[in-house]
Amino acid sequence: MTTLTLPRWYDLHTHFRQGANVAEYIADHLAMGCAGALAMPNTKPPVSAIVGPKTESSWSIEAYREDLLEAGADAFDRLIVPLYLTRDTTPEMIAQGAASGLLEACKYYPPHGTTNSEHGVPMGEWIGGGVFRAMEEHGVVLCIHGEQHALTGSAYFDENQTAESVFYTEVLPRILEAHPRLRIVCEHITTQEAVDFVEAAPSHVGATITPQHLLYTVGHLIQGLRYHLYCLPVVKFETDRAALRDAVRKVGQSKFFAGTDSAPHTTKATECGCAAGCYTGGCAPQLYAMAFEEAGADLSSSEGQDAFQRFLCSNGPAFYEFTPSSETFLLEKSPSRTESRDLPEGPVVALPEGMDLELTWSIG
Ligand code: DOR
Ligand code: ZN
Repeated sequence: MTTLTLPRWYDLHTHFRQGANVAEYIADHLAMGCAGALAMPNTKPPVSAIVGPKTESSWSIEAYREDLLEAGADAFDRLIVPLYLTRDTTPEMIAQGAASGLLEACKYYPPHGTTNSEHGVPMGEWIGGGVFRAMEEHGVVLCIHGEQHALTGSAYFDENQTAESVFYTEVLPRILEAHPRLRIVCEHITTQEAVDFVEAAPSHVGATITPQHLLYTVGHLIQGLRYHLYCLPVVKFETDRAALRDAVRKVGQSKFFAGTDSAPHTTKATECGCAAGCYTGGCAPQLYAMAFEEAGADLSSSEGQDAFQRFLCSNGPAFYEFTPSSETFLLEKSPSRTESRDLPEGPVVALPEGMDLELTWSIG
């Protein structure tokens, strides 16, 4: 049996939400060898302030972090909460937040493009402006949900273009041109165009990739309408999956790293559509290992292990400029299963169960 002894890893894009389920989500992350996380700010209310008490309309990074720490995140050695970029964000907030050490990253959401993204401001309004200039000056990372908002159905998803490919070919180059020093993470990328962009960009532009985008294509979603696989950006075509698989396996690659986008929803299918998000708490390293193997990596070889470890454990901390964990966890090539659980605020179905997938790896 292949057993990998890996440094505890970092999930540099995840959703811990709010309320009574938070402690369960954090516990699931700790149980899968996770040493730290970047916890997304699209909570209710959004994390759109830096300091101060929670109000009806906003949470601060300071107060949300406190709540997460109390719910078990104190066991992580790193917890980053980005600031949700809204109409209330100012250059002064960026400068003060960076000076206080609370602000390490800001999150761009395309308005109405995904879960709780209604506070987002169109990218065109940020480019060249004071907020991005302040971020550039103070080394604050821009985390981007890279999809063009407000497209019509056929422009949103079509054989020749998707909201993501439009964004990476038309918008991202403009950001780099106007803000050449801005540190950027292209989050949960799904397309060949995004891979090409990131590979050609300077070293301060990186990307996260989810397990589901390495494992699946849109065919898996449509065949049986497996809505547990529905997330945004939506899974794409085989050429896109192949580009992602090639990117993570390239020898010595330093730009692509783990960010699961684990996004629990207690109700996926609703009367007016489907909530976007796949829950991979508890099983993400197993899924990533399966994806690497499907991509052709031999995880019993040192070359395969090096590529896997870079992606899961070291590239992310290097990008965010913190020291990776010196503790380890075990990942074993032995079957395991996930089970949906009744949590205080409702049941959450993990992706493998939603896809009826048996994991071929387990946490040791
Ligand atoms: O699938 C997704 N779920 N994509 C996002 O951008 C947001 C996330 C969520 O918060 O549920
Ligand atoms: Zn997300």
